[in-house]
Amino acid sequence: MKVSIIGAGNVGATIANVLATKNFCSEVVILDIKKGMSEGKAMDIMQTAQLLSFDTTVTGVTAEPNDLKGYLPTANSDVIVITSGIPRKPGMSREDLIDTNAKIVTGVMYQALQYSPNAIFIIISNPMDAMTYLALKRTHLPRNRVIGQGGMLDSSRFCYFLAQELQAAGYPATPTDVDGIVIGGHNDKTMVPLASIATYRSIPVNQLLSKEQLDRAVAQTKIGGATLTQLIGTSAWYAPGAAAAAMVEAIALDAKKLIPSCVYLDGEYDEKDLCIGVPVILGKNGVEKIIHYDLSGDEKTAFADSVANARETNSKLKL
Ligand code: APR
Repeated sequence: MKVSIIGAGNVGATIANVLATKNFCSEVVILDIKKGMSEGKAMDIMQTAQLLSFDTTVTGVTAEPNDLKGYLPTANSDVIVITSGIPRKPGMSREDLIDTNAKIVTGVMYQALQYSPNAIFIIISNPMDAMTYLALKRTHLPRNRVIGQGGMLDSSRFCYFLAQELQAAGYPATPTDVDGIVIGGHNDKTMVPLASIATYRSIPVNQLLSKEQLDRAVAQTKIGGATLTQLIGTSAWYAPGAAAAAMVEAIALDAKKLIPSCVYLDGEYDEKDLCIGVPVILGKNGVEKIIHYDLSGDEKTAFADSVANARETNSKLKL
């Protein structure tokens, strides 16, 4: 299993680090336009191999934006993760990044595909739902091979905030005790945390938490990324990196895991021609199956809002 990560910034390097420590890939290549950065981060990660007992080889590469040959070390990758682009600063929405990141994502997809024509792509650059749609439209790849990462991260954040509310309510919950899922677009306003089906060790959380407590967990989840951007000064990387690594793992090991992911809908959830987060089975073919879940009345309305928002963002893409 060979994985390449385009963009060796905070998120890209974290993915490489998590993948290396999980030890299921033979090779991870990280590529960036900043001279020496990928090489340095790869070397730093490799210097943990003896300490952390992994055999994955992590290599760093510098390639100028139009240096096609610079992509040669990524050749024959099974999975390529796209994190290249600019992150948001405090006060910015993910949508504010669209023009800059659309150009970067289009360029790197084209270059990466030349050497890895059969790769499965995971898109992380924001606004991620629009970037996933753009990547599909520009490359004409089958939809099972272009997947956006957002729902896995948002779901993990949702479980964290639910665990906090459960603790405050007197239940000794940790995030791993909680099961919750977030669908819809990966943005502060219209993502859809499905509170009605979240559980604490199989017990529905809505039987343990008040409406106010549940609403607070939902609200915190939606602005989870913005809260961290405000605190750190740039967007987060540990959870986004771990979420992307989990998607790579499901594909690499053909695990057929249910992972909320951004995929192209062609009639599923009564929607067509957009990419948005829904429950998906990930395996060796990328998207193996889209799981249909009957949304409740409120959730249906929230999902419809999310779809409308995603379409509006897509309309700003120059396709
Ligand atoms: N080719 C390769 N790398 C590029 C290119 C390009 N054409 N353009 C930019 N990059 C690199 C930058 O040099 C930088 O190292 O992408 C990297 C982005 O890293 P950071 O600035 O640290 O951003 P990060 O926090 O990792 O976020 C990356 O993921 O979560 C999203 O919103 C976030 O869009 C952002 C992306």
